[in-house]
Amino acid sequence: MIRRPPRSTPKPSSAASDVYKRQVPEPSRGASIKLGDSMKGVVLAGGLGTRLLPMTRVTNKHLLPVFDRPMIYYPLQQLTSADIDDILVVTGGDHAGDFLKALRNGQDFGLNHLRYAYQEGEGGIAAALALAEDFAGGEPIVVILGDNLFEDSLAPLIHEFQRNPIGAMLLLKEVDDPDRFGVAAVEGDRVVSIIEKPSEPETNLAVTGCYMYDSRVFDVIRGLTPSERNELEITDVNNQYIAWQEMRHIKLKGWWTDAGTRPSLHHAANLVAESRENPVLSGRRVVGELESSGGD
Ligand code: G1P
Repeated sequence: MIRRPPRSTPKPSSAASDVYKRQVPEPSRGASIKLGDSMKGVVLAGGLGTRLLPMTRVTNKHLLPVFDRPMIYYPLQQLTSADIDDILVVTGGDHAGDFLKALRNGQDFGLNHLRYAYQEGEGGIAAALALAEDFAGGEPIVVILGDNLFEDSLAPLIHEFQRNPIGAMLLLKEVDDPDRFGVAAVEGDRVVSIIEKPSEPETNLAVTGCYMYDSRVFDVIRGLTPSERNELEITDVNNQYIAWQEMRHIKLKGWWTDAGTRPSLHHAANLVAESRENPVLSGRRVVGELESSGGD
């Protein structure tokens, strides 16, 4: 593994710091960043799924079906189709054991093994990601929220970050209901901050649940303080990279949806049903058709 000389951390630009309200301490200067071909994948699949009660009384939200397979299959298919084969699933709550039954060692995805981490309590997306630090081992990571589905293969975007795995990368998508998401404020082509679930969004550019980071992400998380909803926010992590001017972004063309509410779960199933020939959604690109037990 090649190690680049330590980098110093640039100061936030004034444009970014003006809009960047919450204080996030800088990580230690000179944190080293590993470079190389490898990149690891993290799927965040914790939470109590209260927006999907009563279904989530009996299993984790990310194991509920979206059309013909459990929700978490879609982010896993995205990772394996980008040749990411070292993957950590971070889960939590009362039904964490169900992931082992559903995913086993990842053979449906062409994997030999999957790794698992357990998040105690509800600490937010960034707190869940903190559990991936040892797993990442200083390498860059691609993180996908377990309830996010993307029409297009993310492989080209992941490979682009892999070629230059410094800083961070966000995927943005124009949506009709930006107030449900993290929303990018832009100046020209530049993202100057992310605002989490704004009541009056400045743009319709939602921050999707796929993030790519260098290893400094864990230093950033260590410096976070809980938000008003008492969570460590992934948006605060992203705003730190923006403040350093080390955040890249890409606007997605294909559809994107989360599946964490009743309407979006229904919508996601319909989108998948309408995209049966899509190789990433069907998983064919990786493992062929899913096993069928026959019958219906
Ligand atoms: C989270 C993030 C938000 C992002 C969204 C994507 O929101 O906080 O910035 O836009 O995922 O699905 P949550 O689903 O936790 O409400």
